[in-house]
Amino acid sequence: MVRNTYTSVVTIERYIIEQERLHPQATGALSGILQDLALAAKMIASKVRLAGLVDVLGEHGTENVQGESQKKLDVISNDIIVKAMDHGGRLCAMASEEEEGIIPIPEQFRRGNYVLLFDPLDGSSNIDVNVPVGTIFSVLRRVTKGNGVGTLADMLQSGYKQVAAGYVVYGSSTMMVYTTGQGAHGFTLDPSIGEFLLSHPDIKTPEQGRYLSVNEAYEQHWEDNVRQLIRRYRGMDGKREAMNVRYIGSLVADFHRNLLGGGLFAYPANAKSPTGKLRLLYECNPLAFICEQAGGLAIDGHQRILDIQPTHLHQRSPYFIGSKADVAIAAEMLASS
Ligand code: AHG
Ligand code: MN
Ligand code: MN
Repeated sequence: MVRNTYTSVVTIERYIIEQERLHPQATGALSGILQDLALAAKMIASKVRLAGLVDVLGEHGTENVQGESQKKLDVISNDIIVKAMDHGGRLCAMASEEEEGIIPIPEQFRRGNYVLLFDPLDGSSNIDVNVPVGTIFSVLRRVTKGNGVGTLADMLQSGYKQVAAGYVVYGSSTMMVYTTGQGAHGFTLDPSIGEFLLSHPDIKTPEQGRYLSVNEAYEQHWEDNVRQLIRRYRGMDGKREAMNVRYIGSLVADFHRNLLGGGLFAYPANAKSPTGKLRLLYECNPLAFICEQAGGLAIDGHQRILDIQPTHLHQRSPYFIGSKADVAIAAEMLASS
């Protein structure tokens, strides 16, 4: 008898619908957004998987609003998401790391009550050397009245107002992890059938972790209490076991490994980036939502990331995210600054 080789045949589409039933007032719009994002993820995955063979490597020759040179795949991934999401009638606006202003919904399409913010390709400096990269997204309900194009006010909401958030990691396998506030759930892409299948239901991150992800090249640019904190994690002040340093320069890949294995990712402010490097609205907030749903925590050194009231679209934040006990040490040692 041929046994079913699949550990699970729950597709992401089916799981999203089943989750929707947990919200009696759901209209299905949020489910539609998540399903369209799963399609965009498959399209980006197909580009990333062939990056060495088709002309998508290297620089696009332009800079984004962050002043960072754009890789061809940054721009391609951005366009894939915009075109996958702009006609579904569920969004009234989008915002991307790769575009300065708000991305309106074209006139010919119906507008909906949600806004989508995203980092189309995270860790893109790694794409040319075949190191895992990712996509990060955040969904908010519009707060402005009427059904006009979404505005900045709809985007500048604190992270605890997110109605959904998630990421895709294009690693040894392609995984999509999302939450709508009912736990964090992971799906693995089976490329032979083109479906994301449930592989990690209700992810819970260990209370205390093994991995420390931080770029220690900035040590001389950190505040002294940050230096002390990182020494603590590395067991150098004798107060705890040393953590294994794992840092590959792709936030999504570093975060995903720590989420499953336990640990902490830190991108502190430094003299060169006085408010940190990572962007609050489409990097820090969505991963913080996922992390808290998995039992972890994310702070900026003084407050919970999800409580920060944003003031502009591409604002950055210092970032400490991961296992609750590890982040609690950061809260304690940085409170004094
Ligand atoms: P992006 O490619 O979207 O700009 O993000 C890169 C980010 C993040 O993915 C990573 O953790 C961090 O930049 C690495 O920064 P450093 O090279 O300064 O450590
Ligand atoms: Mn990024
Ligand atoms: Mn990016």
